[in-house]
Amino acid sequence: MTQVTDPVKLMKQEVGKAAAALVKSGSIVGLGTGSTTAYAIQYLGDRLKSGELKDIVGIPTSFQSEVLAKEYGVPLTTLDAVDRIDIAIDGADEVDPNRNLIKGGGAAHTREKVVDYLADSFVVVVDSGKLVDRLGSTFAVPVEVIPMALTPVINAIKKLGGKPELRMGVRKAGPVITDQGNMVVDVRFDKIDDPENLEKALNNIPGVLENGIFVNCTDLVLVGEVIDGKPVVKEL
Ligand code: 5RP
Repeated sequence: MTQVTDPVKLMKQEVGKAAAALVKSGSIVGLGTGSTTAYAIQYLGDRLKSGELKDIVGIPTSFQSEVLAKEYGVPLTTLDAVDRIDIAIDGADEVDPNRNLIKGGGAAHTREKVVDYLADSFVVVVDSGKLVDRLGSTFAVPVEVIPMALTPVINAIKKLGGKPELRMGVRKAGPVITDQGNMVVDVRFDKIDDPENLEKALNNIPGVLENGIFVNCTDLVLVGEVIDGKPVVKEL
């Protein structure tokens, strides 16, 4: 495992490790996206190298997780080759008290939803700053949109009461383009009282591929915190 000294990074590393430690030999593992899951993928690679873990295959949720899995020696497969996923490990941008989530900070929520929902056990890895009383408090809802439908989708989102903003690239001119070749609209809502229905309403807009509200799918949330300069991992 890479030596990390920054306390926040160290905490993310510990949460990622705690999740990766749950993976058993012979498992099919959903590999989430983001900086916390990256440590879980790295630790899976370490466990494989040491021989403590054997015969696992990963299903990546993004180009990022595919690259990391290859770098750390985690063998990969696809959903065409397996009929189930034993465990998926993934990050989140917000977690509410019912363990519903907002995801998509890395614009990977479409593939993440496919993989995470298929898993027998979906383990979420976050730091305590991601815990909210109500979804939408700190983070906008990412919505993946096919490019030709951008304007009508934005108009329909406004009619639902949302404030949409096209996600723009950083160190890239123009919008963020997803692994599927689509765009992402980040939607702020004054308050989200009913995440389940909002998820459905957004996905009902023609031209929307998927949105980042994940409801009733989480089996375990591992939460990292820095206490007195030391990383602590707890279950929600
Ligand atoms: C990517 C995601 C990530 O899991 C989420 O943004 C959390 O990432 P990080 O662990 O870097 O905070 O949903 O689409």
